[in-house]
Amino acid sequence: MSSVDESAAAKDAGEDSVLIRMQDIRKHYEMGSQIVRALDGISVEIGRGDWVSFIGSSGSGKSTFLNILGCLDRPSGGEYFLNGVYVEELGANQLAEIRNREIGFIFQSFNLLPRATALGNVMQPLVYRRISYRRRKEMAMEALRRVRLDDRMDHLPNQLSGGQRQRVAIARALVTEPSILLADEPTGNLDSRTGAEIMQLFDQLHREGQTLILVTHEEDVAGLGDRVIELLDGKIIRDRRAGEPLH
Ligand SMILES: Nc1ncnc2c1ncn2[C@@H]1O[C@H](COP(=O)(O)OP(=O)(O)OP(=O)(O)O)[C@@H](O)[C@H]1O
Ligand SMILES: [Mg+2]
Repeated sequence: MSSVDESAAAKDAGEDSVLIRMQDIRKHYEMGSQIVRALDGISVEIGRGDWVSFIGSSGSGKSTFLNILGCLDRPSGGEYFLNGVYVEELGANQLAEIRNREIGFIFQSFNLLPRATALGNVMQPLVYRRISYRRRKEMAMEALRRVRLDDRMDHLPNQLSGGQRQRVAIARALVTEPSILLADEPTGNLDSRTGAEIMQLFDQLHREGQTLILVTHEEDVAGLGDRVIELLDGKIIRDRRAGEPLH
């Protein structure tokens, strides 16, 4: 489908093709007499179905940005609309609800429950939904099939390889059918071959229409998406199509 068809389809469904709209987002920390400007005026729009990579050196504000994007943290200033909802106006419970409904998180260190099986980990985000145990199990099994781990459902995290653990984490992020998958250095703890397999999986999800936002140090990983946004000292210093030359 062309992007024109896609936006027409989104309009038919009553949906805005812009999923994320941020205006002048700031996050400041007061550290004694010093103010740390972790984010210093970020304005960005991200469309439904896009794959955007944020790149930047250590301390540039990537994780801070992702946490605000994922409603894990609130900005000090600026405006953030997620799927048409003005996030600043939400109370803590509404924020938790929107996070559970709209966002799937994937972390560098997987963050799986060590005593739960792969299936148990993937079922976990569904606990907050009013659906039966049987239906939750079916949905988790389907998510594990999507990441091709249906032959490891009963394994505990320490009985899985790093790449398999990250697949479980991706299935857990997918199971709620979020509008956006957010990944913070998803290949950071993996060897290069396993990392490449995980990136292939992201590519497959993107082709299935999933909106993806990921943070990485690595230019190769960033270049796999549609668009690369570079941060420095809490500001956007470059915003380009993937594959475009740097200068
Ligand atoms: N809770 C906090 N209190 C004070 N300063 C903070 C806090 N969290 C982050 N910072 C500062 O904000 C800046 C951005 O941090 P952030 O974790 O977003 O960087 P990053 O780009 O994710 O780095 P890395 O690549 O190392 O993960 C850093 O200078 C950091 O020291
Ligand atoms: Mg970080």
